[in-house]
Amino acid sequence: MTIAAIIVAAGKGERAGGSCPKQFANLAGRPMVTHSIAAFADHPQISQIILVVGAGQEAMARDAVGSLPVDAIVIGGAERQESVHAGLMAAKDAQFVLVHDAARPFLAAHVIDRLIAALETEEAAVPVLPVVDTLARGTEALGPVVDRSGLMRIQTPQAFCRSTLVKAHKAWGAGPATDDAQMVRALGICVAQVAGDKMLEKVTLPEDFAEAEARLAARLVTRTGMGFDVHRLADGEDLWLGGIKIDHSQGLAGHSDADVALHALTDALLGALGDGDIGTHFPPSDPQWRGARSDQFVRHAAQLIRAASGHIDHVDVTLICEAPKIGPHRPAMRTAIAAMLGISETCVSVKATTTERLGFTGRGEGIAAQAIATIRMPVE
Ligand code: CTP
Ligand code: MG
Repeated sequence: MTIAAIIVAAGKGERAGGSCPKQFANLAGRPMVTHSIAAFADHPQISQIILVVGAGQEAMARDAVGSLPVDAIVIGGAERQESVHAGLMAAKDAQFVLVHDAARPFLAAHVIDRLIAALETEEAAVPVLPVVDTLARGTEALGPVVDRSGLMRIQTPQAFCRSTLVKAHKAWGAGPATDDAQMVRALGICVAQVAGDKMLEKVTLPEDFAEAEARLAARLVTRTGMGFDVHRLADGEDLWLGGIKIDHSQGLAGHSDADVALHALTDALLGALGDGDIGTHFPPSDPQWRGARSDQFVRHAAQLIRAASGHIDHVDVTLICEAPKIGPHRPAMRTAIAAMLGISETCVSVKATTTERLGFTGRGEGIAAQAIATIRMPVE
């Protein structure tokens, strides 16, 4: 089964307002679309991820993707169905597709599981929720009540045999469609239902951001972890600090690249997760980590948190040294760390202090780093 995820994120987000299209706005510490990308990236049965964005949104899209495994970023159209079509064309080798709105950020693995299970016997399947409110026609004066029995609210991702959806798009002539399943039903093909998820509500209006954050918050508890590390300064070594290489008379000695800031950060993340420390995951006795770049330790810890459905809210790193001066390098370190973690730079802090020439850091014998990570994890 080759299954491509197509994430449509080419809208303007007009109803949501805001300074950038809603799919790139910050939600729970990262651009909204990044949540969906990460959800598919973490699912073992998704073989390909196609991201569809609007013309002119490419730079925001690349920032939102960061280091996540997106196979193609393609340009969508003025209507949602044109955007889906662009994604379908980019997913030529896939047997099945899951079409998903970037505006539905909290996609749980169990919803993907249900859809994929349905595809074993069905050509198309959608997540649905029952309508529980009273329904009536009319905006100003309410008219007659609409019978809600048998009405369903339809969410995304929507799962299809790719060839079926391509056929449905070709045949569709009824103007703008709000989803893809209606195009498939127009061909007379049955669309199966699986249980939807309240976490998948679409973010449409300005107030939906706060509601989405609150829905997430209700399921999650905050945890913090701290990390501390020291490396010796030595001649003839490169100086890697906070994920960047700094021109300096000495560098840090250690088994890996000895990036003391990233080591402290990795321990802070693992501490918040409650999953050992950097030595547990990357034993210094293992030759494969000799000279290794430490960003992979941070990325691994972040990946473990995401795999446990956790969110990284904030990290704060303090470097303790007399030299080099950290201030000029702070913006580059923040950018590098934010990219490793897949979170916004506004959620990354880098600070520095000296020890007034006291102790080993004061004498310039080594550099120390402390880090604290704040994450949110599902309630056990
Ligand atoms: N979408 C798209 N291409 C379009 C229109 C919408 O890829 N031409 C995507 C949106 O980015 C969103 C999803 O389809 O992820 C659902 O659409 P909607 O919630 O209507 O988002 P927008 O069209 O961006 O919002 P609005 O209608 O308020 O402008
Ligand atoms: Mg729209």
